[in-house]
Amino acid sequence: MHDDPCVDDRHPHRPRPGRQASVEGVTTAVPRVLPAAHGIAEAAAVLRAGGLVAFPTETVYGLGANALDARAAARIFEAKARPGFDPLITHLADAADLPALVGALPPPVAALAERFWPGPLTLIVDRPDAIPPIVTSGLDTMAVRVPDEASARALIRAAGVPVAAPSANRFGQLSPTRAEHVVHGLGAAVDVVLDGGPTRCGIESTIVDARGPHPVVLRLGALAVEELVAAVGPVTVRPGSSGQPVAPGTLAAHYAPRTPLRVVAGAGPTPHDGVRRGFLAFREGPAAGYAAVEVLSPAGDVTEAAARLFDALHRLDAAGVSEILAEPVPDEGVGRAINDRLGRAAATWAPPG
Ligand code: TXA
Ligand code: MG
Repeated sequence: MHDDPCVDDRHPHRPRPGRQASVEGVTTAVPRVLPAAHGIAEAAAVLRAGGLVAFPTETVYGLGANALDARAAARIFEAKARPGFDPLITHLADAADLPALVGALPPPVAALAERFWPGPLTLIVDRPDAIPPIVTSGLDTMAVRVPDEASARALIRAAGVPVAAPSANRFGQLSPTRAEHVVHGLGAAVDVVLDGGPTRCGIESTIVDARGPHPVVLRLGALAVEELVAAVGPVTVRPGSSGQPVAPGTLAAHYAPRTPLRVVAGAGPTPHDGVRRGFLAFREGPAAGYAAVEVLSPAGDVTEAAARLFDALHRLDAAGVSEILAEPVPDEGVGRAINDRLGRAAATWAPPG
């Protein structure tokens, strides 16, 4: 057992019955929503039949398909409107299943898997022949992880196949941390949603390429860089530094609400210009003047802030404001990943004029 890098403040949870979902203003049918505790066998059958199942992990909800089935994987790209160049992460039920799929691992990769799985760490390995190229967007490498969520692992085990799963949102939009986010974002493009309540970490896994002499962090995420360093020594952090993105989750514009978002140093005085603004605060909301305010962690805890980040952004996005202002959090631990996501959410915003 290792320490849980994320918070666990889940409350007893009862899934809400399905409603009409709206995608891009068009009302669509809703997927089947099953409680994670009881829907495993049915969801696993859907995966085996080539269908799409959204399921909770400790980070965000994933949109899963049988990773051995090219047609099933193609449905993920369609449902998300995801460009074909953005490879998927393959999920396994147990670390012990990886050598059976890909053969012997480079020792540093094996060491990281041993230390942090199950958990919010994605590792880069060679793509085995059993995984069709569409899953890795033609790359000869594959991203893989073992999620630290009992229902996710039970689902993968019951399906009996590796499960390819990106975050269960339309491409470029906010990641889902609740089943409702998936239903609203993807509608009936997904066959079944397993509802396990809010996710613990709230931010995606950290992606590390540890095949070379020095581990390289390709995406900041729920496993803090400090924890990696403590375990394996110095690492290089290089999210999105290459022109040809190795991890398109590191594209400049990503994780974005529909409402324009700007990162600001602090709340500051609100201009009296009649514009309805929302504010995303770290510890303390601004005194007045904002139409909607979300405070990520009154206690000033970046891990708690990460767990609440996307949920808060989903709410601000639905608050009918014209602009969201967000203040950065301390750039330490998972705070780095939060600031990375805020920066990318802001990248689509163009100043007027
Ligand atoms: O926490 C997570 O990682 C969640 C849950 C569902 O596991 N998944 C997730 O998937 O965030 P997605 O698709 O939203 O982000 C996966 C990232 C993408 O930026 C993709 O480019 C990168 O992983 N990736 C996938 N395969 C890769 C590879 N072979 N080399 C480098 N990056 C890769
Ligand atoms: Mg994503």
